Amino acid sequence: MNSLLKNTCIAAIALALATGASATPVKTIDNLKKAFAGETTAFSKYTQYAAVAKREGNLYAYNLFRAAARAEGFHARNHKAVLEKYGVKDVQPSKYTGKVGTTAENLADALKGESYERDTMYPEMIQTAKQEGAMDAVQTFTFAVTAEKAHAQFYGEALQNAKAGKTQQPVAFLVCPRCGETFRADAPASCPVCQTPKERFNIIR
Ligand SMILES: [Fe+2]
Ligand SMILES: [Fe+2]
Repeated sequence: MNSLLKNTCIAAIALALATGASATPVKTIDNLKKAFAGETTAFSKYTQYAAVAKREGNLYAYNLFRAAARAEGFHARNHKAVLEKYGVKDVQPSKYTGKVGTTAENLADALKGESYERDTMYPEMIQTAKQEGAMDAVQTFTFAVTAEKAHAQFYGEALQNAKAGKTQQPVAFLVCPRCGETFRADAPASCPVCQTPKERFNIIR
């Protein structure tokens, strides 16, 4: 390294330290890209699963898959906004091209995906983002993991009913447009996760 370049580097580091600028959260940017790919794939997948449920006459699952798809779309949008803050502007949504089965099979697959995001993927991403001081990422990952918990619960119940041959009457699902939190049949006056008023929730019926 020549001395001019060396001095420039030292000056840049000194400026960063003086202004409190934090280092680029490299792992978190990679995690945001992975999470964006996961959420856009889930959106595409659940939209295809909803079409199967409708064909099978399972309108409960039809509403549930569309509500979860809506929530995953909000998560993808939130992740993308944080990526843009970090200067990443070229991410493209992913499409699901895997197997589409019966509604019972699709519910089992959806439950598996949500459980992985809830128990492993997002908790690890949140921990890494905290270590890297990327608090915007902590928030978008926390919004997502909270909604995935609800999705896993709804998918699990629907799967048990499908296996038992029980038909669930269709109900409306409500989705918070800010954090994606998902409610069945009714919702509190404001989102317990992000305080968005119920009047702004998307109703899927
Ligand atoms: Fe989900
Ligand atoms: Fe919310």
